[in-house]
Amino acid sequence: MSMIDIVKAKARSDVKSIVLPEGDEVRTVEAASILMKEGLARPVLLGDPVKIRETAEGIPCDIEGIEIIDPATSPKLSQYAELLYELRKAKGVTREKADELVRDPMYFGIMMVKTGDSDGLVSGAVHTTGDMLRPALQIIKTKPEMKIVSSSFLMDCPNKDIGENGLLVYADCVVMPDPTAEELAYIAVAAADTARKLCGFDEPRVAMLSFSSKGSAKHALVDKVTSATRIAKEIAPDLLVDGEMQFDCAIVPEIGKSKAPGSPVAGRANVLIFPDLQAGNIGYKITQRIGGADCFAVLQGLNRPCNDLSRGCSVEDIVNTVAMTAVQAQG
Ligand SMILES: CC(C)(COP(=O)(O)OP(=O)(O)OC[C@H]1O[C@@H](n2cnc3c(N)ncnc32)[C@H](O)[C@@H]1OP(=O)(O)O)[C@@H](O)C(=O)NCCC(=O)NCCS
Repeated sequence: MSMIDIVKAKARSDVKSIVLPEGDEVRTVEAASILMKEGLARPVLLGDPVKIRETAEGIPCDIEGIEIIDPATSPKLSQYAELLYELRKAKGVTREKADELVRDPMYFGIMMVKTGDSDGLVSGAVHTTGDMLRPALQIIKTKPEMKIVSSSFLMDCPNKDIGENGLLVYADCVVMPDPTAEELAYIAVAAADTARKLCGFDEPRVAMLSFSSKGSAKHALVDKVTSATRIAKEIAPDLLVDGEMQFDCAIVPEIGKSKAPGSPVAGRANVLIFPDLQAGNIGYKITQRIGGADCFAVLQGLNRPCNDLSRGCSVEDIVNTVAMTAVQAQG
């Protein structure tokens, strides 16, 4: 079974409600129809019901039974505005501003997730990463045990000899441009959690990547990775995490043995932590474009699951991301 088939089977086992703030966007409407038909989630579309139905007719697709909520006329508006005001008044949000913000489907959707009216949120077919991430960070915040929000990319590689039968988790490839050593340690712990929950890895083996393996090079950038490795071991003493190590040392058994002898991770890593966003973002695209891997992105560390799409996403990408969000919502 491919990684995404494993995720979909999990999503079907305990169906969650996922709100889609870009509810009248054509790919989103079609994805909602598929999600409902395949029992992957209970999608909730936000927007003008007339426009959403017209969009569905134009595709055409069946949206019978899918909940549609128009934030502009919802009876929840004042409850959400009051809560938003309470949460953000210290940051300068007035009651009037809160009234205005909750009419925006993105904020309305985030408030649905915050209050438990929906189990998770997916957007990004129209909005940028920042448009969704900022309200999620401000309102939903991080899990109590996590200091930061970051991302993991689940890479399904054609070479089944690497990682976990070809599956690797890469982090962080989207959120934290230049993490400190402590933040990098939290990214590693969160990625191991994602590997367990979403990919079903029984034993995440986390490699902290660098251009140096076990002291082969000296540089302040390498020191950051060795500090992050030490901190990750302190935060999660039972986690198999090791570094610093080069990419080949992490995934090629013979090179792992020669460059990091005795390491419980080297040569057999299934979770790869990049030292910063430039490395992570470039790394996943190389694996995808040259390595031929399928890749699936999720945010990790948020107190309730919200995920971002690329604006160039396909209907299938939306379906997959909602399925992953639903599994994250299963707790
Ligand atoms: C994540 C991101 C959107 C935050 O935006 P920002 O404008 O820097 O946000 P701010 O610094 O104003 O922070 C907003 C709130 O989020 C919190 N926050 C910011 N980054 C956070 C993180 N990674 N984890 C947890 N909280 C975070 C801040 O503490 C702040 O909370 P507060 O308002 O309650 O004090 C920004 O870091 C970013 O753009 N990252 C790169 C995204 C990107 O372009 N990726 C490539 C796309 S593929």
